[in-house]
Amino acid sequence: MNDCLPETTAAWQAFEAIVRDWLRRYGYREMRTPILEHTGLFKRAIGEVTDIVEKEMYTFVDELNGESLALRPEGTASSVRAVIQHNLLYDGGKRLWYAGPMFRHERPQKGRYRQFHQVGVEALGFAGPDTDAELIIMCADLWRELGISPSLQINTLGDHESRQRHRAKLIAYFEAHQDALDDDAKRRLHSNPLRILDSKNPAMQALNDAAPKLMDELDEAALAHFSALQAILHDNGIAYEINPRLVRGLDYYNRTVFEWVTDQLGAQGTVCAGGRYDGLIEQLGGKSAPAAGFAMGIERLLSLIETGSVKLAVSVPDAYIVHAGEAAQAYAWKVASALRAAGLDTVLHCGGGSFKSQMKKADASRARYALIIGDDEAAAQQVTLKPLRDTVEQTRLELNLAIEYLQR
Ligand code: HAM
Repeated sequence: MNDCLPETTAAWQAFEAIVRDWLRRYGYREMRTPILEHTGLFKRAIGEVTDIVEKEMYTFVDELNGESLALRPEGTASSVRAVIQHNLLYDGGKRLWYAGPMFRHERPQKGRYRQFHQVGVEALGFAGPDTDAELIIMCADLWRELGISPSLQINTLGDHESRQRHRAKLIAYFEAHQDALDDDAKRRLHSNPLRILDSKNPAMQALNDAAPKLMDELDEAALAHFSALQAILHDNGIAYEINPRLVRGLDYYNRTVFEWVTDQLGAQGTVCAGGRYDGLIEQLGGKSAPAAGFAMGIERLLSLIETGSVKLAVSVPDAYIVHAGEAAQAYAWKVASALRAAGLDTVLHCGGGSFKSQMKKADASRARYALIIGDDEAAAQQVTLKPLRDTVEQTRLELNLAIEYLQR
């Protein structure tokens, strides 16, 4: 879990501002849900036999009423819970987004943290491949704006029946190779054999590569959905690779799944991931409705942006007010308030000291200008404007002219 110091926070805010504008342009509206939920919600939504639920959730018992609660490991379950609870789909589909901290007790490394942050986007109540395409195309749009170019992998997981058929074949296949299974795989063989394919154990790779393919079990409707998605991506110039190994670490997905990946961040290269989850709303007690969405990891995206050419704007003060003398100090308060009223970011020096030491502070603040006020300036109701970032000479001006100058 990391602290976000002022330097970094400025970059986060610039990123968040870009993301908010981007989501507004696509007609998505922000929703905020609690950071705690009942543990059962995540078990039911993400799946009992997944890494997240088995190993990574921060869970505790609320001693006041004995309920088991968990820090949210992701945002889709909470979004669906809220959508059902407030009957948000009563008048048709909804485009929603959220951002905030998520918690997973993973082994920390670069790009993988125990508290990390996501921007999540969910389109609920829409069944067609056009929605899957919109979710993907809007990402590509954001990457352009951020000056990064992760690559897109897509896959289809088909529907319930084809997954059941595939599951039965997988179990038979892995049973026939019991000796080659690692402990995780043995444990998951009957509860969640699909998760075995997700294994990061190199010793399991060859066995997994030769395992029965879901692709071979897909029915026509799911295949038509997948090719319609590809046609829209193609029409819109979105390059992608079909990765039949892409199964995702959460159980709620069906049909389309996708990940945006980069090789520039080391092992944790997935910056954004999602897919369709048509069964989840009903499974959590709502009226059956289709849905799809994705979430991006803010820490990973910010590291990737750092490697690119776009610099996220970091704001600096417009002016730092330096003053010495009693009359000057009284006048400095008035000047600061006039500058701020005019929309200028102003730091008023506090703590006294010589002009020289105050000028050092002004410089360290990275302000564009120092506004110098001595008793002379105070008597004349003027200020001396000294540029700190270039070699232009300082000038003494009436206050209102100085404000106009700074605004320009
Ligand atoms: P996820 O793949 O578990 O999906 O996480 C989405 C993204 O969050 C990852 O691609 C990664 O960028 C970031 N992320 C995940 N774990 C960590 C971590 N420990 N440290 C840093 N970043 C991390 C979901 O969470 C789904 N709810 C996405 C979704 C939304 N599907 C449909 N709607």
